[in-house]
Amino acid sequence: MKKNKDNVVIFDTTLRDGEQCPGASLTHREKVEIAHQLAKLGVDVIEAGFPIASPGDFAAVKAVAEAVNGPSVCGLARCLNKDIERCAEAVAPAKKPRIHVFLATSAIHRKFKLRKAQSEILKQAQQSIAYAKTFCNDVQFSPEDASRTEPDFLAQITEAAIDAGATVVNIPDTVGYATPDEFGDLIAYLFDNVPNIGKAVINVHCHNDLGLAVANSLAAVQHGARGIECTINGLGERAGNASLEEVVMAMRTRPDRFGSLKTGIKTRQLYPTSRMVSRLTGMTVQRNKAIVGANAFAHESGIHQDGMLKERSTYEIMRPEDIGISGTELVMGKHSGRHAFANHVSKLGVTLKPDELERAYSRFTELADKKKHVYDDDLLMIAREELADVSPVYMLDYLHVSTGTDTVPTATCRLRRGDELLQDAGCGDGPVDAALKTIDRMTGVKGSLLDFSLQAISVGKDAMGEVSVRVAMEDGATLSAKAASTDIVEASTKAYLSCVNRYMRDIKVNGLGKETDIKRKPAAGRGKRVSARKKKTGRKA
Ligand code: KIV
Ligand code: ZN
Repeated sequence: MKKNKDNVVIFDTTLRDGEQCPGASLTHREKVEIAHQLAKLGVDVIEAGFPIASPGDFAAVKAVAEAVNGPSVCGLARCLNKDIERCAEAVAPAKKPRIHVFLATSAIHRKFKLRKAQSEILKQAQQSIAYAKTFCNDVQFSPEDASRTEPDFLAQITEAAIDAGATVVNIPDTVGYATPDEFGDLIAYLFDNVPNIGKAVINVHCHNDLGLAVANSLAAVQHGARGIECTINGLGERAGNASLEEVVMAMRTRPDRFGSLKTGIKTRQLYPTSRMVSRLTGMTVQRNKAIVGANAFAHESGIHQDGMLKERSTYEIMRPEDIGISGTELVMGKHSGRHAFANHVSKLGVTLKPDELERAYSRFTELADKKKHVYDDDLLMIAREELADVSPVYMLDYLHVSTGTDTVPTATCRLRRGDELLQDAGCGDGPVDAALKTIDRMTGVKGSLLDFSLQAISVGKDAMGEVSVRVAMEDGATLSAKAASTDIVEASTKAYLSCVNRYMRDIKVNGLGKETDIKRKPAAGRGKRVSARKKKTGRKA
């Protein structure tokens, strides 16, 4: 984007800070898929990861740098030479690479975390920026915990960073402590007290611990900041970051407050992007979330509905179509052909390889047999499941549960592992517990459920239920997954199995994804083996 005083740069950090959100880990392929969608959405910068953090992070940043056209691709680095070198290597393939170095500046971080004096911090920051500049012209500096840093020291380090060659100085409210008036004043203070501030872009990066991330970011642009660091659905460390869709729509909806400030965001891509990120991270968007929540445009009260029918603007300040919500559409039925299915899935923004498409189509026909109406959301769910488990270690082949008021809940599971079929049965406190315990025994991987939620995907009693789970493994690794089915016990079992598969696959590929730190090798599956032939002859487990 050309430098223009009215442009607000949208710096998306979904793949870096967003992915730091507990339970939101993404695979390599998922990161690249999201990066393509972010480019389509029109973000200016994609922060793709923290390359020194793990080989998986490095590979993902590099893959995004190689694959994505349009936005700058940025990697994060501490003010350490080894971080900067690793980051430079990862972003090098990008047409527009950026290195983002950060160093804490607040008294509390200086004293307890870094044990360094102001002068040492200044020197380290300047040296690192200069070192990063030897690899890449576009270098961003963040004084971590800026909002709790003494303003005069913050001004001093901002000036020093720009002198050392920083093209962007980002002012983070790292712990989400600032209030909008205070944060706006801090940005104004920097504009008044940093003589060379006009030579760099001032970004802000606000966390949402007090629910003020969006308000603080907007206050900052009203006081001169021209870059907002944000994430899709507000994902991020702890309570998250400023939500991209909220900051963009606030500026667009209220030109009376934001004047001619503009972003390059194609707002009709907001909803599809939100859906994609939710689906791939397994982080459900709360129904009442602003802009992209399921209820954001739903009018329940009779008075509101009456007003809407008379004149939309009585109760609607934005049009759902402007953010890409087209309503719940009835799209297909059991007579829809393969071609129509492929077309529709691709219109929903999902690209499937031919073999994935074939499997997804076969799942669609099975679903259309069970369920009268198949909606966009159902199709997206089917497509997501194809993308999620590219090469599952275990596949659920058969599940039978027996449950009731006077019955001991029991599950019989059959899993396919390559050419092998394994089966086992177990009891539990309920049918889901019975199925998951049986899976644990069969796979040798023992997980505990940290979160479990169930949501209807579309409408009607026959709607598919989508189960989201977050699972902690015995060694502390956490994984999340979703699965859907018209049978909610099956959906729960598949979601859980998907975490087990990801856990096992990440050990195998050793080096991709967040779970690379996983050391423990799970025991081989312990289910009783049954032959594939027996299954073909219809033998019931
Ligand atoms: O919150 C923060 O301070 C960060 C920095 C690395 C920019 O994420
Ligand atoms: Zn952050």
